[in-house]
Amino acid sequence: MKKWMERLTEGLSDAFEKAGYDPGYGKVTPSDRPDLCEYQCNGALAGAKAYKKAPRQIAGDVVERLRESPVFSAAEAVGPGFINLNVRPEALVSFLREMAEDEHLSVEKTREPRRIMIDYGGPNVAKPLHVGHLRSAIIGESIKRLGRFLGHEIIGDVHLGDWGLQMGLIITELKHRSPELVYFQEGYDGPYPEEAPFTIGELEEIYPAASARSKEDAAYKEEAMEATHKLQQGDPGFHALWEHILRVSVADLKRNYERLQVTFDLWKKESDAQPYIPEMVAYLKEKGYAHLDQGALVVDVKEEGDTKEIPPCMILKSDGASLYNTTDLATIVERMKLFHPDEILYVVDKRQELYFTQVFRCAKKAHLVEEDTQLTFLGFGTMNGKDGKPFKTRQGGVMRLEELMDDISEEMYRKIADNRSVKEENARKTAQIVGLAAIKYGDLSNQATKDYVFDIDRFTSFEGDTGPYLLYTIVRIGSILERYVEEGGDLEQGELQEATCASEKALMLELTGFGPAVEGAFAEKAPHKVCSYLYGLANAFNRFYHETKILSEEDPVQKSGWIQLLSLTKRVLETSIGLLGFSAPERM
Ligand code: ARG
Repeated sequence: MKKWMERLTEGLSDAFEKAGYDPGYGKVTPSDRPDLCEYQCNGALAGAKAYKKAPRQIAGDVVERLRESPVFSAAEAVGPGFINLNVRPEALVSFLREMAEDEHLSVEKTREPRRIMIDYGGPNVAKPLHVGHLRSAIIGESIKRLGRFLGHEIIGDVHLGDWGLQMGLIITELKHRSPELVYFQEGYDGPYPEEAPFTIGELEEIYPAASARSKEDAAYKEEAMEATHKLQQGDPGFHALWEHILRVSVADLKRNYERLQVTFDLWKKESDAQPYIPEMVAYLKEKGYAHLDQGALVVDVKEEGDTKEIPPCMILKSDGASLYNTTDLATIVERMKLFHPDEILYVVDKRQELYFTQVFRCAKKAHLVEEDTQLTFLGFGTMNGKDGKPFKTRQGGVMRLEELMDDISEEMYRKIADNRSVKEENARKTAQIVGLAAIKYGDLSNQATKDYVFDIDRFTSFEGDTGPYLLYTIVRIGSILERYVEEGGDLEQGELQEATCASEKALMLELTGFGPAVEGAFAEKAPHKVCSYLYGLANAFNRFYHETKILSEEDPVQKSGWIQLLSLTKRVLETSIGLLGFSAPERM
């Protein structure tokens, strides 16, 4: 079935053709002046040169042909040659009826499905999830859902950081605290206990303690580096400990991501890429891509036309140790081998942009990926506090994700409890659902690359451009539909009717924008476009709702038609928030 904008363009192209012009000039776009018209076409201006005519005259000729148009109720040539357009309510309703019939809300699945891997976790084992991980999880999850909705194959990978110095630090700290543990005994070669010698709570205290000490105590740091090296060389005791750390930590991470409603298809880790390193290094050397520079193995990645210096990508340090780069390159090798994606998208803090430029260039230059494999970096900005500095706890520490979610839920609970229609036992659950929407929408409604201010008061408000406002709108529609059923109405009966007033037509026009919003957001990896669409739709609905007495309408055809309009609006709202990664409660 033809998309809405295509139908409009078709109507106009037809008129261009009938007036003797190239139909290619008939492109219709949403109006720049919604106060004057619903849509516009600027084709007459574009065609003026080719026809050596005043654009105003071309516009006039086309408008003449639009008089009988089945799509447009009004067409006017204005200014230097713009064509202002309004659509016929019957054309609009016929599109929306088809949309309501279609399970997929008239959004076509792509004809060219691609396999895209998204790297959007990046938490480090043994460190709790903190607000720094929030953005990557929220944005990545939404892009994943958008892509799937459009028919792409998306593979989400958490890509755990499990291989760096933090592991050596934890092992060292444990050794200082409990040197008697079997893991540290020379000559002992197993079996090792099944139970970890620490809980997640202890683990989370051990890491910061070790990290702080290593900053003051050089010998301690040396020991931690040595332990990291030993672990990476396969020391059995250290390896057994590392497995404990991983298991305890991953269980905790999973619980946290679940609470965020973020799910990964793959729980791969940096260490999984290690087996690919030796062969990759040998290949880079052999093919001459890598060379030694002051003892370190590097690949030059600067390119002609660079406006700033892009330093070489370092593959091995002079002591032969591998680095973050090495792991990321080996992960690319692994991903190509196991999944052969068309694209790998990294949703990571934008401060890592230069780093990813180096890694991508190196992967391309050395043909670790194919010519047409896309490597994309989506760098996001910082989540700041109201003081404009990176978000911190009241004590000034790094805010744990759990703590942040608890704070928001608590605030939502306070607001919901004020509203007596929700029973106590449900209020807690509802607060969690609405709280998640507040956090996610607060984040996603900003352009990903920009920094934003995390403002609990604003994000949890039921008014304005917020998650709770959208949920409130959905719940409001839900309760009208419920009352309709209680009064004997049947939600399956009735058909959308032509708009009877301006606010109703405006709502219907907004509904046609669903497909373009979703497609645009995915194409540009910009979930904020779905947010602004949703906000416009919710506003259009609420304006219509305030002007219309739906349940007391006497004409049954009109009444059931409105009910269908409400159902469709609710479906579009619910589908859209699902694509953003949250859902609505029954009541609030
Ligand atoms: N663990 C990394 C960090 O904390 C983020 C990983 C991002 N993904 C990647 N493939 N490098 O900075």
